Amino acid sequence: MSEKTQKSEPSNQDPFIFDNNWGNWGKLPQDANQLTTTNADGEPVVPLTEEQKFVFDTQGWLMIPDLLSEDDLKEMREFCYQLVNDKGSLPPHQQTPIAGPLEKLVDHPVVVGFCNEFLAYPALSSEEYYGFRFETSFLLYRQKGMGKFGPHNGNGLWRLPGNSHIYRNVPGKGYSGLTRVVWELNPVKKFEGGTLFINGSHKAAYKIPESIRDINSSLWDSYECPAGSVLFFSEATTHSAQPWQNESVDRVPIFNQYNSIGSRFHWWEPPKELLDQMPPKRRSLFRQAYSEGANTDLEIHNLFQRPIG
Ligand SMILES: [Fe+2]
Repeated sequence: MSEKTQKSEPSNQDPFIFDNNWGNWGKLPQDANQLTTTNADGEPVVPLTEEQKFVFDTQGWLMIPDLLSEDDLKEMREFCYQLVNDKGSLPPHQQTPIAGPLEKLVDHPVVVGFCNEFLAYPALSSEEYYGFRFETSFLLYRQKGMGKFGPHNGNGLWRLPGNSHIYRNVPGKGYSGLTRVVWELNPVKKFEGGTLFINGSHKAAYKIPESIRDINSSLWDSYECPAGSVLFFSEATTHSAQPWQNESVDRVPIFNQYNSIGSRFHWWEPPKELLDQMPPKRRSLFRQAYSEGANTDLEIHNLFQRPIG
């Protein structure tokens, strides 16, 4: 083997990724593989740890606790209560859970770190643009007794293209299609109202057993967390709500959702006036799904196998 050939070969740490690259190993030259390293506020992106990647890949969901300060939480909760109780007092473009103090959650450094790993398409990612899309956002406010058990999704193995509820992986690399990112702004106690999951169902080969229709099935797992924690889950993972059981605090979670740069599942648009006020990098989350030659703002010259610059 010549020295040149040896040099271009990836290390055995690199996953094999099929791409528009003549069947070559999917490792890209550094300048074409620029995952975004800072968020719109200039904060360095926080990559997932090896353990966090492993947990998300094997379970289909991941909890990262305690990321927000008390001051931020107070301001965010107040904004949420305004959305719930007195929405009309906010200007129309602020009547959404991606506005005001909640805006910075959409590209929080830990969220970008997660999406860089499990969603971003490196060839359409840069320091100016995120390589993934934002899909939807809603505030799922609950007092004691609100919320109903209703399992859905699961059996995500080898779903066909066109279905955004997919999870794919090869040794060394996971790809999560439609992905939910939940910010819990109040504490959650285990099995007292947080989202329920069937671990591993995002890539289950066998049918989900009927026994999971019982909320007390031991197959259901969940989390507990302090206020200011973030929960990631693949929408291919079987999941369910359950009634909120805590009477001393309400559930105040922001349900944001992301997708790959070329896919769109929900028809949801943020207020244009809000987008106009966002820094361009954050605004890039809200681009239309990528389509060559018909996209909004995206440069296409960093696609695989295209000349750079
Ligand atoms: Fe759901």
